[in-house]
Amino acid sequence: MNRILVTGGAGFIGSALVRHLVATGVRIVNLDRLTYAGNLASLAPVESAPNYRFVRGDIADGARILSLLREERIEGIMHLAAESHVDRSIDGPAAFVETNVLGTFRLLSAALACIHLDVRGLMTVPPYDEDPERSRPYFAALRELRDRLARSSGRPLPELSMGMSHDFAVAVEEGATEIRVGTALFGAREAP
Ligand SMILES: NC(=O)c1ccc[n+]([C@@H]2O[C@H](COP(=O)([O-])OP(=O)(O)OC[C@H]3O[C@@H](n4cnc5c(N)ncnc54)[C@H](O)[C@@H]3O)[C@@H](O)[C@H]2O)c1
Repeated sequence: MNRILVTGGAGFIGSALVRHLVATGVRIVNLDRLTYAGNLASLAPVESAPNYRFVRGDIADGARILSLLREERIEGIMHLAAESHVDRSIDGPAAFVETNVLGTFRLLSAALACIHLDVRGLMTVPPYDEDPERSRPYFAALRELRDRLARSSGRPLPELSMGMSHDFAVAVEEGATEIRVGTALFGAREAP
């Protein structure tokens, strides 16, 4: 894959991913709305790289996304744009619905409209609970959503990315094909 759109590439995880990918030489288009969570300073090491382009924009702007996918002949999307600061969702839930639900839906619709893009699947992180069984309904719901989307789009969507160190066994039982087990591999870490 040589031409990748990263959404939320000015965020905590996205900026590390963009720096890494640009260094590998692939073409990276970073689409970010630059909310309070976005920080272009974290991208200073790559900002003038010839294989890097920053676009300020909203993932909920479906027409813009579609034209960017076509203009840049994007072959893959790594979707990290989100309202990720969960505490804020209590005071201002609208932004969470607009970006995480509507924005992700518009991005996915644009990707599905581009026949040259191979949409691989869906991912989720349930609310944290020490009892892994409490995560099961979220994993099962994502599998059901994937199955329905696969039927309506005619695409197989084979990957389900879900499950972390404490609940990955349940996720695998519910169909996970990719898991994230940082704590199990590296041990507990302090929050940054
Ligand atoms: N940080 C973690 O430990 C962690 C762990 C697991 C999963 N995740 C998930 O990974 C993703 C990225 O996490 P993060 O910590 O980098 O988040 P972050 O809040 O640091 O970054 C989010 C980025 O998205 C951008 N953004 C927000 N709304 C946008 C919109 N409508 N259109 C375009 N850009 C928009 C922001 O400007 C910001 O640069 C999130 O979905 C998060 O839930 C994070």
